[in-house]
Amino acid sequence: MKYEISRYGLRGEITVPGDKSISHRSVMFGALAGGVTEIENFLRGADCMTTISCFANMGVHTDVTPDRILVHGNGLRGLKAPEKILDCGNSGTTTRLISGILASQSFSCSMVGDASLKKRPMRRIMKPLSMMGADITSTLGNDCLPLRINGKQLHGIHYMSPVASAQVKSAILLAGLTADSPTSVTEPYLSRNHTELMLSTFGAQVTSEGTTATIYPADELYGQKIIVPGDISSAAFFLAAALIVPGSEIVLKNIGINPTRDGMLTVCREMGGNLTYENIRRGGEPSADIVVRSSDLHGITIQGDIIPKLIDELPVIAVMACYAKGTTIIKDAAELKVKESNRIRIMVDNLKLMGADVEETDDGMIIHGGRPLHKAVINSADDHRIAMSFAVAALRCDGELIITHKNCVGISYPRFYIDIKQLVHTGQDFGKIY
Ligand code: S3P
Repeated sequence: MKYEISRYGLRGEITVPGDKSISHRSVMFGALAGGVTEIENFLRGADCMTTISCFANMGVHTDVTPDRILVHGNGLRGLKAPEKILDCGNSGTTTRLISGILASQSFSCSMVGDASLKKRPMRRIMKPLSMMGADITSTLGNDCLPLRINGKQLHGIHYMSPVASAQVKSAILLAGLTADSPTSVTEPYLSRNHTELMLSTFGAQVTSEGTTATIYPADELYGQKIIVPGDISSAAFFLAAALIVPGSEIVLKNIGINPTRDGMLTVCREMGGNLTYENIRRGGEPSADIVVRSSDLHGITIQGDIIPKLIDELPVIAVMACYAKGTTIIKDAAELKVKESNRIRIMVDNLKLMGADVEETDDGMIIHGGRPLHKAVINSADDHRIAMSFAVAALRCDGELIITHKNCVGISYPRFYIDIKQLVHTGQDFGKIY
């Protein structure tokens, strides 16, 4: 991948696709609600389409029209036994959240996934769901997919989660919707709260205090109109790109800035990045336009309760850190090892191939910025966020980057390469430079 950038850097305005976490949830909760849920700006990436197809397999009809998605809900207890095994593709969110829903249905079913998903840990949901009375087993006995779930009547629990994971929290809260008493989850740090916010909108009683969320059993959910904000995890690639490429100034339109997801914005600022918000829209899921200008960055330490707020952005933060002055330390991020790939190992190995001074640690990495990066063949490990992070690195490196399986970006951002090319296109002074 080779870009040639004008002396004006990246320029223009960009609208990134809808938020992946919110898109998944809008289909899931719409499927469990009575009536129709209308979703605007739904992310049509492979992961969210997987969620639609899993619910179609359980009798939920969805109209996918050019400008919106209509989910015709079956009601809280109206899902049908799937005709085929549920294939969750590459999506951890689909697998874990649906497990919480399936645990209390009146049927049995099995779930499978692709090669990456089959390696991801499911014990983290199997344990709390079993404590609630669920019958959930890993058919190979390795706590991974395939999972077999026989629906049961569940009981409320208070679960102290060892990990700050919205997928774990959401699986438990969804199971709690139909349990016989309230269910609470306490996390070590607060993870993204889209489930709590959106379930309340759909009519469930959910409360949050500190890092504890509680759900009360519900009789019914009600279909809603959802307008999905732009995905901050997708915006992160453009934020990083504009910060590291000299002479850049871009506007990212309508980006979700939920405070449980905004760690990337905090880190960009702390590293010296020039960001401003315009057109702030407050409400359940706040959003804003973000203006970003290239900046001289410096290294910082990223650790503790900010980690869940930027967990998916850490790969591209590592790229930014290579172009920052001084040392960046990323700690408390062992969760990165169990994402679509081992993102600590893969980032460190690939950055080293480009000449970066970076070292892997048990729970993160240490990056000494300032070395020029050069051409290399990058192993994306078929992980969308790794491929996009290196497409950003390609904007500043010397020579060409070849990224293996680069089309894996279709999981969360099918138009990624088209959109980034638009920003590096340099206009009439320079002709077509890309
Ligand atoms: C997600 C939560 C995060 C994140 C994933 C989406 C969600 O995972 O990495 O991409 O939609 O709940 P964990 O909550 O397991 O950290």
